[in-house]
Amino acid sequence: MAIIGIRRLTWAVEDVAACVRFFSDFGLSLIAEKADEALFEAADGSENLILKFGHSRLPAKTAQTSKGVHECVWAVDTQRAMDKLLADLAPDHDLVTDDEGIVHFTTAFGQAIALQVWQPRPVFGAPSPFNTVGKIGRLNQPRKWIDRAVPKRIHHCVWTFPDVQEAVDYYRDRLNFRITDMQKGFGVYMRADGCYEHHSIFLANAHAPMPGFNGTLKFHHANWEVEDIDELMVAKNYLDRRGYTYGDWNWGFGRHRLTSAAFFYVPCPGGGDVEYGADTDCVDDSWKPRIWDGAFGTAIYMTNLPDFMKGEPNWDVVYARPDQLHYHPAEPAPLAEAAE
Ligand SMILES: [Fe+2]
Repeated sequence: MAIIGIRRLTWAVEDVAACVRFFSDFGLSLIAEKADEALFEAADGSENLILKFGHSRLPAKTAQTSKGVHECVWAVDTQRAMDKLLADLAPDHDLVTDDEGIVHFTTAFGQAIALQVWQPRPVFGAPSPFNTVGKIGRLNQPRKWIDRAVPKRIHHCVWTFPDVQEAVDYYRDRLNFRITDMQKGFGVYMRADGCYEHHSIFLANAHAPMPGFNGTLKFHHANWEVEDIDELMVAKNYLDRRGYTYGDWNWGFGRHRLTSAAFFYVPCPGGGDVEYGADTDCVDDSWKPRIWDGAFGTAIYMTNLPDFMKGEPNWDVVYARPDQLHYHPAEPAPLAEAAE
């Protein structure tokens, strides 16, 4: 009885046609298109609903003003779980059920959220085994060749929040999310209770000194999972060949240290970025959350190091005590400097 992942992302955009081109090239399947809306699917059936600003299906109440994902519809595994969640929310939320059975509401901090009883289509990965010194994973067998990516599912979504702790309290106490890790000064990673993904949402600090952060509730990026690094890089080259560029905030290909995930971010005409991801840590309720130095947790490597990653890695990560499961502000100085 739980939230098991992301069923749909609802985008508020200015240019639907540009988003149709973009998400088609990104690898999602176009299901329907009109002048002011479009619907895409990933392999598991999770959806991207693109709506032009002013569309009647956009959430009426939201603190978000700039383009991007204005509502996440979370998938609930059973009607019983849905009834339990709604019974808790009903006393202090205005719950609106639409003709698809999706229940929409807005939090006190202005975020539009929705719930739907939904199960994804099964999707199976079959990545090529690795060869390494002393261990043969493939004998007389080349790696798989593919010519373009098919994103398998929506893995996670990220917004900046003016008050991260307020949002953490809400997702933990009202939607049963678990804290999986905390990144000092940057935010908190949380997992929906019915999934094994390291995080379903990252609650980023809107006041962090990062490009595009402006102190408000704002969409940052959404992540689609692909099979492995090969599919991720084929996806990038597919975009390269169609003339895509990757903006000022371009980390290139890399691997996060926190989550272990391989990543590649692409600026999205619908707002923020979209991310291809692969090989992310999987965890369950026996996982012990950690507190990370912000830059140290960001990456093991990336092809284009940003300035805040140019220093030597600051090996600062600890397991959190139960009383430390909350947002941690940035420290005045990195531990490595303080020790000198
Ligand atoms: Fe991400």
